[in-house]
Parts: sequence; structure tokens; C-alpha cells
Amino acid sequence: MQHLDGLKDKWLAAIAGAGALDQLESLRVEALGKKGEVTGLMKTLGSLSPEERKSAGQSLNQLKDALAEAIEARKAALEEGALNQRLKRETLDLSLPARPELDGRLHPISQTIDEIVAIFGEMGFGVAEGPDIEDDFKNFTALNIPPDHPARQMQDTFYLPKKPGEKEAMVLRTHTSPVQIRTMMSKKPPIRVICPGRTYRSDSDMTHTPMFHQVEGLVVDETTHMGHLKGCLIDFVRAFFGIDDLPVRFRNSFFPFTEPSAEVDIGCDRSGGELKLGQGKDWLEILGCGMVHPKVLANCGIDPAKYQGFAFGMGIERIAMLKYGIPDLRTFFDADLRWLKHYGFVPLDVPSMTGGLTR
Ligand code: DAH
Repeated sequence: MQHLDGLKDKWLAAIAGAGALDQLESLRVEALGKKGEVTGLMKTLGSLSPEERKSAGQSLNQLKDALAEAIEARKAALEEGALNQRLKRETLDLSLPARPELDGRLHPISQTIDEIVAIFGEMGFGVAEGPDIEDDFKNFTALNIPPDHPARQMQDTFYLPKKPGEKEAMVLRTHTSPVQIRTMMSKKPPIRVICPGRTYRSDSDMTHTPMFHQVEGLVVDETTHMGHLKGCLIDFVRAFFGIDDLPVRFRNSFFPFTEPSAEVDIGCDRSGGELKLGQGKDWLEILGCGMVHPKVLANCGIDPAKYQGFAFGMGIERIAMLKYGIPDLRTFFDADLRWLKHYGFVPLDVPSMTGGLTR
């Protein structure tokens, strides 16, 4: 086994010279593979005397280890080199201005959220966010939705598998109302926020998708009353739909987390098979609202004897469909570029109350 040093030098030089991963792999097979040169020498050990076998076996094993190590090191170097080259090739300068010829469009959901934020921003509202995966307390209990309420039943709510030690399963939030709870638990009044985001319900047909968007609103202060709620929402819907004299109606309703509760309708005309907002004698429901239930305030550590508040919630797809004449809810989530080109918005036209909501 005197020639092992020469063999080692030969293979190490070849490995060091490998310029690509596939070349390196061929070398590995030629040296250490089933029919490789070093493997072949291992097979000859059986014909040696026990003494010779011991020392030759040791030397061969050392050679095998040295080559395997050299191959691994070369492989790591080649991979790093390839990655560096790719990083160099794929560099993107994010500070460059958008290229108009790329023709990207903002999704109507993003546009509608931007418009809602612009309108409420002008009224002094901030934006609050919460996680899509929510605990039972914030999605239900704190909102005065008792354990036997139908909204908790399996067909509506997506429950996550319970982890060991968890008392209750986490849920995919069924509405944006838990962000109210998070806000009241973490901030002292006065509070004035809107909370846009994704929501989930186990429901799928022409007018329901398992994931959709809502925006929640919450105001809490010492003197907040129903008049503020009405003024705020009337101003909002008129600004959002761009119709200054849009008729708005508050209809008595029920939600566990508000008392009293109301639903808001806007005036429309359905004659002739076409929907026209702001005309005619028909009404169209667009959102739910009410005065925050004293129990909900108390659940969040806010003294209901000192503070009162109002809240509202609405579906973003629904008001986007009405404003932009989008007939089918499911198309929002088809990721069809032709649809996006038709219904999408130019990204740099940021909605504002002074510059205009939609151009
Ligand atoms: N959370 C309600 C829903 O998902 C919407 C809602 C209604 C939110 C009234 C509110 C409210 O804050 O006051 O249907």
C-alpha cells in the first residue's frame, strides 16, 4: 500500500480542480463509489495476511475519509460560489421608481382598504391590527358571545387542532371584532381606531368565500353617544360612495357585543334590473353597528360607569362590489390577471380626501 500517498495526491488535486457540482459528483463516484478505485482497493484486503490487512485497512480508511472530507469542502465552496453568483445576478434595486410599462395593478380590496383608511384617517382614526389566528376569549367570550351561541358551531368557525395543554382550541378569527378587544385591553381611552383585515368562516357559495375581509371601527370616550355613531357613519358612507346626499337609514338590530345595535342601509333603486345607489325608494344593507355593550368594556378592564363607546363592522368585498360594480364575489380570489387589469387600480394614485379617493 506504498502507492497510497500518490493516489491521495492525485484525487485531492482532481477534487480541488473540480469546477462544477456535477463534475465533483463524478469524481466521488470514480473514487469512492461502488466500483470506484478506492473501493476496489478495499476489496483486495481479504487476500492479505491478518497483519498486513490491519495496517493496509487503516491506511485505506484514512484515505477514504480524507477524500470524502475534501469532496464535502469543495462541494460547500462550489455551492457558496453558485449562490453568490446568483445573488449578484438577481440583484434588485428597490429604490428605483416603478416602471409604468410593467402595468401592475392594485387589487380592489387593497384600494378599498386604502380609501377607508383615508376617510377615517381624516376623522382622526388610527389603524389597529391583530392576528388571523385568535383565541376563543377574544373572538367570542370577551365580545359577550356565550358558549352556546350559534356562531360558535363548527359549520361557521374554523377551529385549529388543540395543542397539548391548551384549554380551548384557537380559531381563525370569524370577524375583525377581536381587534376591538385587543385595542381596549392594551390602550386607555380615548380610543379611535379602525381595524381592517382578513376573516374566515367555513362557508362557500355564490356570495360567501371561506376567507374575506372586514373593517371594524371602535370609539371609546367619556361622552361618546349614538349621535356620534350616526354622524360618523353617515359621513363615511357618503364620502366612500362619493354621493353627498346618499340616503342613510339606521334600523334596529341585534349583536351580542353592542346595545343598542343597528344595521345601516343606504338608499338605492333596483328597477330595471340595475342597481343604482342614491336614487329611488329601495334600501340596501351595508354594515352593522351599535353602542359597545357595558359587559364588553368591563371584560377589557374599561369602567363602563365612566366610559362608553360605539363600534361598527362591515364587509370590504361587499362595499367594493357595490362601489365598483363587481358582480361576482369569487372573482376577487381567482388571481386572474385579466380581471385585475380591468378592475384594478394604478398603484401610485394613493387615495386621499383632498386628492380624491378614486381616479
Ligand atoms: N362582527 C360583526 C360580524 O362579523 C360585525 C359587527 C357588527 C361589528 C356590529 C361591530 C358591530 O363592531 O358593532 O358580523
